[in-house]
Amino acid sequence: KRLILIGPPGSGKGTQSPLIKDEYCLCHLATGDMLRAAVAAKTPLGIKAKEAMEKGELVSDDLVVGIIDEAIKKTSCQKGFILDGFPRTVAQAQKLDEMLQKQGVKIDKVLNFAIDDAILEERITGRWIHPSSGRTYHTKYAPPKVPGIDDVSGEPLIQRKDDTAAVLRSRLEAFHRQTEPVIDYYSKKGSVANLHAEKTPEEVTAEVQKVLSS
Ligand code: AP5
Ligand code: ZN
Repeated sequence: KRLILIGPPGSGKGTQSPLIKDEYCLCHLATGDMLRAAVAAKTPLGIKAKEAMEKGELVSDDLVVGIIDEAIKKTSCQKGFILDGFPRTVAQAQKLDEMLQKQGVKIDKVLNFAIDDAILEERITGRWIHPSSGRTYHTKYAPPKVPGIDDVSGEPLIQRKDDTAAVLRSRLEAFHRQTEPVIDYYSKKGSVANLHAEKTPEEVTAEVQKVLSS
């Protein structure tokens, strides 16, 4: 399967991805995770992306299209992939169409994590992550066994630099202005499934499974 996950910050894309990935043996390609790793490693890509990310603005289309182009060509992703956080502009969606056309494949489903903005601040400000694995926790909704510690590795958890109420406002603005049109773009192709992303993680997982098995 080849899936796209679209939704505002905190809508649950990163939470649902590992579950879908394991069930269908797919590659999880999250542009946000890749960019954060590049920023941490101070690579040329990371140096270019850092400022926009800290302000909650989108990184340039060319940068993210480049990393996705490389990733989907990898043999490990030939069976299928989950694009989490990409495409985020109509220009990125058009580029993706070109890339997939060259490979003779297409997107099966676009999962739209529909949710009200009002819920997102609590989700974002309560999030803790384990950077190397991408595991995500929430102080209230998905607490780790020991506060501040990853359940699996025992390593410390961190908060993302852009997970403040102020930066969230810019990220939401970018979502409504630049990413919502991408949902319309795929709706016209008939590939969008709308999820109730405000429900519990388990309920959202059940909705995803229903969509993917139909
Ligand atoms: P990115 O990393 O993609 O961030 P985002 O889109 O803002 O999404 P989040 O990761 O914040 O949300 P999520 O939906 O994954 O939520 P999660 O499941 O963790 O992008 C970061 C930045 O990189 C961008 O701002 C931009 O600068 C740049 N970038 C990335 N891709 C780009 C692109 N294509 N083009 C240009 N720039 C790009 O859940 C959040 C919290 O809620 C967690 O604590 C979780 O435990 C909890 N939670 C999850 N589900 C539930 C539930 N159902 N009920 C209760 N709590 C829940
Ligand atoms: Zn995420």
